[in-house]
Amino acid sequence: MHRARLLRSTPFRLALTFGLLFILAFLVAGLITYQMLKRELAHALDASVRETYSVVSSTYFSDDLEDLVAAVNTYSRRNSSEDQIFLLLDNKGERIAGNVQALDARDGLSTVVAADLGLKGDDRIRIQAGSVGDNRLIVGQSYAETDDFEHIALMSFTWASGVIVALAFGGGALLAGRAQRRLDGIEKTMIEVSGGNLSGRLPLSGNGDDIDVVSTHMNRALDRLSALVEGMRQVSADIAHDLKTPLNRLKMIIEQAMQQSERGEDVHEFLLDARTESDRINATFEALLRISQIEAGARKTRFRPIDMMAVMVAVAEIYRDVAEDNGQSLSFQPQSPAPCLVNGDRELLTQLFVNLVENAITHCPPGTDITMSLAATDHHVVTAVADNGPGIPVDERDLVFRRLYRLDKSRTTPGSGLGLSLVKAIADLHAAAITLEDLRPGLAVELRFPMDTTISTA
Ligand SMILES: Nc1ncnc2c1ncn2[C@@H]1O[C@H](COP(=O)(O)OP(=O)(O)OP(=O)(O)O)[C@@H](O)[C@H]1O
Ligand SMILES: [Mg+2]
Repeated sequence: MHRARLLRSTPFRLALTFGLLFILAFLVAGLITYQMLKRELAHALDASVRETYSVVSSTYFSDDLEDLVAAVNTYSRRNSSEDQIFLLLDNKGERIAGNVQALDARDGLSTVVAADLGLKGDDRIRIQAGSVGDNRLIVGQSYAETDDFEHIALMSFTWASGVIVALAFGGGALLAGRAQRRLDGIEKTMIEVSGGNLSGRLPLSGNGDDIDVVSTHMNRALDRLSALVEGMRQVSADIAHDLKTPLNRLKMIIEQAMQQSERGEDVHEFLLDARTESDRINATFEALLRISQIEAGARKTRFRPIDMMAVMVAVAEIYRDVAEDNGQSLSFQPQSPAPCLVNGDRELLTQLFVNLVENAITHCPPGTDITMSLAATDHHVVTAVADNGPGIPVDERDLVFRRLYRLDKSRTTPGSGLGLSLVKAIADLHAAAITLEDLRPGLAVELRFPMDTTISTA
């Protein structure tokens, strides 16, 4: 990957930040541990020197120097490696016994270097000096062992730091690389999608992590987007196709009128036909626009709690006579005494039932019984408009909701094939599930609205 891009990459930055924090934490912890160890070792050395001093000095009994001289000589002999020093001086400062020549040291604990004692090397030595009777006793121990320990601790710490740095950056780079590859996959898909290929989907790793969750949601959004775009494409093609026929008809009427007027004949009839035809085209466009507006969802702001019973009673009353004039019967059978409230738009809900009842009246023969029903379950208001007419074949039940779609046998009846599209748009706006049922014979259009539990009605 390009370096500038790598530095801008979130996984890489995160890995780098956490790597650095981790190393810093390790260094601080290591340094604190090292300092504590150093202090402990110094304390231990002091305690050891003090103990040796008190053991040696305890061999002195009132004015009897012999045991003390013997003890100093024994200790001096035993210590051939010269990491411990012993010195016994008389009250004039002359050496009586010990493994070093001379030393001028104040009482208590202090640190001297080898050169002060006339020894070789640059070792530091911790000494305890004090008076024993009239004499001076000096006991000391080299820092060599303590320094060795410190050195080992420092080396271990340095090596561990090296391993930690390698692990932090190596592991970080590995994890960042993996996350980056997934982001690259997402970027590649999004470039494809923005380039117009809506079939691309984000890759999923299958482990259900947060990137997978976000990708799943984005894939769903892409599914919806491609379905919408496909729908739009379909609708545009359908509209162009279906409007060709009435426009051609209009053109023919105008041509016939022109021919007639050239012959000096009356064209009034043709003008009336042309007006009817253009009214029909206008109505189709208006219906298409209305469906689009409903689908856009703006009318949701006008939603109020609506009593479905009142809406259905009104539609039934208006259309009972129309059905009877057509030799059919229309009845409304509410099965729920309580008001069935739905949060919605009264005008649109009325339009919905008008479309369904008009369909039953238009597409069913005389003698058909049309029934509107209303029931309530715990959470739903269930409505249906049913008839015992010819029904809709199974394979066309989804298609009838498409704009301008009409069954072949209905081509001779008036209409533009937009009634059920509008029903579907209104049902979707109200979050109602719509199903077409075969009543053998007949069709039932059932709608399940979510019940509104608020109290006031519009
Ligand atoms: N109750 C029904 N019985 C039989 N067929 C029906 C019924 N309702 C609808 N259809 C069929 O479904 C088609 C689509 O109905 P839709 O309401 O969308 O359009 P339309 O009634 O033909 O025209 P429009 O409603 O725009 O005046 C109709 O053409 C008809 O073939
Ligand atoms: Mg209709």
